[in-house]
Amino acid sequence: MDQKLSDRFYKTGKEFLNVDYPIICGAMTWISEPNLVAAVANAGGFGCLAGGNTPPDILSQQIQETREKTDKPIGVNLITIAPVYPEHMVLVKDLKLEYVIFAGSFPREREIDQVKATGAKVLCFASTLSIADRMLKYGADALILEGSEAGGHVGHVSLNVLLQQVLFKIPDVPIFVGGGLATGRIAAHMYLMGAAGVQMGTRFAVAKESIAHINFKKRFIKAKAREAISTPQYDSRLPVVAVRSIKNKAHKEFGQLQLDLLKQLELETIHRHDAQNKVEEFWMGALRRAVVDGDIDSGSLMAGQSVGLVDKIEPVSEIMREILEDTETELQRVKDTLI
Ligand SMILES: Cc1cc2nc3c(=O)[nH]c(=O)nc-3n(C[C@H](O)[C@H](O)[C@H](O)COP(=O)(O)O)c2cc1C
Repeated sequence: MDQKLSDRFYKTGKEFLNVDYPIICGAMTWISEPNLVAAVANAGGFGCLAGGNTPPDILSQQIQETREKTDKPIGVNLITIAPVYPEHMVLVKDLKLEYVIFAGSFPREREIDQVKATGAKVLCFASTLSIADRMLKYGADALILEGSEAGGHVGHVSLNVLLQQVLFKIPDVPIFVGGGLATGRIAAHMYLMGAAGVQMGTRFAVAKESIAHINFKKRFIKAKAREAISTPQYDSRLPVVAVRSIKNKAHKEFGQLQLDLLKQLELETIHRHDAQNKVEEFWMGALRRAVVDGDIDSGSLMAGQSVGLVDKIEPVSEIMREILEDTETELQRVKDTLI
């Protein structure tokens, strides 16, 4: 077979993740369970199980189940701000995981040490250059830059800016990029800029193998990019990691929850830590209602702005095929314009 242009761009990410193609299906709470993760892995990409707020025994079962469905490497995504996170960290010690992705907020050095001591490779998100430096100093093996266009919990900075602030400044570490990416054509330009691979969530959420409720998928297919908005933080006494989702009743309810919690904080009837747990529990519960029960009105429809680019339900193999083909075509097109 002819050598493809894309092969040389895939090399770093492919070797780091030990997969055929450095396309990460980002972990999505309630959605990234064994079926989707194994489908992505079996199609040559990198699938990540979502730790979310899953009870440790269930997460452990899910890891086992995924391993039965694929012999390819997978990642496990742990959310540092999830109420169950301390228990997940205990679990990690007992499981031989290949890759751990820390999400939510930023892990402590000893947490990265703890995971690396088990033999797993560690990926961390970096939303600024100083955080990127800190995560690498703590021992992260690779970074993920996720722009604020992404679905789910998001930072404040768009991918375009993160590319210039972080990717361009750190050339010798595998850096995966995501947020608003849904096509192979844009992926090609990420590789040209130095990314080791791309991470996509929203596009895979509507894959045939995704267990998300049909109402959830249909709403994604109908949605326009501008409908995927992020939640504001009302007061610094209650820090809120913004969540990007398709606007619906859940946004209003979350606003009300913030106001109620702020009042309780003022009256000192709730501890700050418990108030923050309530915020996290709200999103995990609301996401479950949308993904599992199909309640698209008051459930949370976490989606990236890339939702405006998603227009059909198709098998993971087809999504992968299209992304790979379009990446190669775009690289060829760029090459032709340079000659
Ligand atoms: C429904 C949904 C749930 C998500 N849950 C998580 C999660 O549990 N952990 C995480 O690190 N990222 C989570 N994300 C972010 C994705 O892993 C991925 O980085 C993001 O979707 C990329 O941007 P895109 O949506 O534009 O493709 C979630 C995204 C979506 C759409």
